Amino acid sequence: MKLFAILFTCMITCSSLAYAQQEPIVIRFSHVVASDTPKGKAATRFQQLAEKATHGRVRVQVYPNSQLYRDREELEALQLGAVEMIAPSLSKFGPLGAREFEVFDLPFLFPDEAALHRITNGPIGEGMLQRLRLKGVIGLAFWDNGFKSFSANRPLLAPSDLSGLRMRIQPSRVLDAQMRALGAQPMAMRFGEVYAALEAGVVDGTENPHSNFYTQNLQDVQSHLTVSNHGYLGYAVIVNRKFWEGLPADVRQALEAAMRQATAYANSIAQEENDQALQAIRDSGKTQIHVPTPTERQAWRNALASVSVEMEDHIGAQLIADIRRAINNF
Ligand code: LMR
Repeated sequence: MKLFAILFTCMITCSSLAYAQQEPIVIRFSHVVASDTPKGKAATRFQQLAEKATHGRVRVQVYPNSQLYRDREELEALQLGAVEMIAPSLSKFGPLGAREFEVFDLPFLFPDEAALHRITNGPIGEGMLQRLRLKGVIGLAFWDNGFKSFSANRPLLAPSDLSGLRMRIQPSRVLDAQMRALGAQPMAMRFGEVYAALEAGVVDGTENPHSNFYTQNLQDVQSHLTVSNHGYLGYAVIVNRKFWEGLPADVRQALEAAMRQATAYANSIAQEENDQALQAIRDSGKTQIHVPTPTERQAWRNALASVSVEMEDHIGAQLIADIRRAINNF
């Protein structure tokens, strides 16, 4: 009888141990955009790479379109451990106490993607990700979206055309200053609410890369878009620090490798995705697209030149200077 009890206990213990070993580690990856955007596609690619590299020990569940959490909530959810991974836009790091990320919002700071990558792939970007550790999160990578266009329901040929318009922005002090410099009224709003707000006339216009514009169907509610390329929108992929540091070392290494590959993929498709989205907006026939002439572009630059100086205290004059030097010294 005693032997039977021991055998029985052993069977239960052994099978629950085996079960525990088989139980996958789950990474919930929440984001706010559509699946067919640069970020959405890169998240799916990471899921595939991570599951393959860990032979199924890790299961990645991607929740697009604010399904699980919306903009600010997903940051809180990450810190609380309610999700393991998110990739907010760099304009949304203020609530984490990392407002230096808003440097990427400065108008016309980066002449092109190559200049931007000198920062995100170089020591300045690395230092910014490292400092996130103090906030209880680990910064794994920068993912591109692209340069933004202004849109509204009137032609935006010159900076003064934005005067008096209510413009939706992400919650960034730099974007607030940018809109004010143009005489517009900035209104911070969650991404998932932009379409309805434009439709209802709560806001008049917005800014985003074309992939976000098109996948949110903003061509239905915005008659004009100016390819202003006035600022950059990209992401940092971040994970809950306690979760990440608690992973078995081999699993973490496999995930880091998967993230490197997903990042290369993200940054290789972003430009093309945005070009295709611009073409699709054009093909819709609903939104008139204006590409500024060099003279018009200079007028946008002039109108926004004061923002960088105004934001020095907020972001850190040193960081702005370091970025300018890194770009110019290349
Ligand atoms: C926005 O709110 O406009 C963007 O941050 C959305 C995104 O994640 O690309």
